[in-house]
Amino acid sequence: MRKNIVAGNWKMNKDMAQTDLLIADLKNQEQTSNAEVMIAPTFTNLHQSFNALEDSKIEVIAQNMHFAESGAYTGEISASMLKGVGVKTVILGHSERRAYFNETDELLAKKVDAALANDMRVIFCFGEELADRKSDNHEAVVKNQITNALFHLEAPALKNIVLAYEPVWAIGTGETASPEQAQEMHQYIRETLVNRYDEATANSISILYGGSVKPANAKEIFSKPDVDGGLIGGAALKAEDFYAIVNAF
Ligand code: PGA
Repeated sequence: MRKNIVAGNWKMNKDMAQTDLLIADLKNQEQTSNAEVMIAPTFTNLHQSFNALEDSKIEVIAQNMHFAESGAYTGEISASMLKGVGVKTVILGHSERRAYFNETDELLAKKVDAALANDMRVIFCFGEELADRKSDNHEAVVKNQITNALFHLEAPALKNIVLAYEPVWAIGTGETASPEQAQEMHQYIRETLVNRYDEATANSISILYGGSVKPANAKEIFSKPDVDGGLIGGAALKAEDFYAIVNAF
């Protein structure tokens, strides 16, 4: 059985004091679903987040990392540094990293390898742009992204991979893929996994949807058979909204 996961990507939001406040709010929410809950605060607030959530089921995860173990990479953070604060899961390949920091599939393949070599779990993000969808290339684009960054892995390594389909046109725009569009793509991704690996492997991988998930649309999106959860941006910054989504299963 694959897991349901709801992960909040805080992006470059919330300073130290605001992080404490939001975590306090999150701890006051009641969870009625069986979803795994994760939050990804900014690097500088990871340590305090671990301390604040010591007795909680909420997992603290990172938004990015470098592929090298250490060295002359000013401004970067390695897997072992993240592990040192307690991080066990990292988001890689977010469309904002691809768009603003030129992250390519080739670079992401190296990051994925580094994370797995450090026994970390990866939430691997990918998704097409609006032009790709308009020209009916969305499936080919997504297939390429997954193939280039992940398909060098052998099946056993995939137990530490979570996929996050995030159509770029739906991120932070208020525009959401319809539940049918999400299901159609998730099913296509699962078929692509069956073709590269096997049925059992494909069925064991959680595929999250991301892009303007809100309390109002989460239930319908999560009801689709191949949607196993969500990667939540804007709505993760309000505890009530985030837990309305967590509890939408
Ligand atoms: P959004 O962001 O929910 O604000 O659209 C999603 C994401 O970037 O992961």
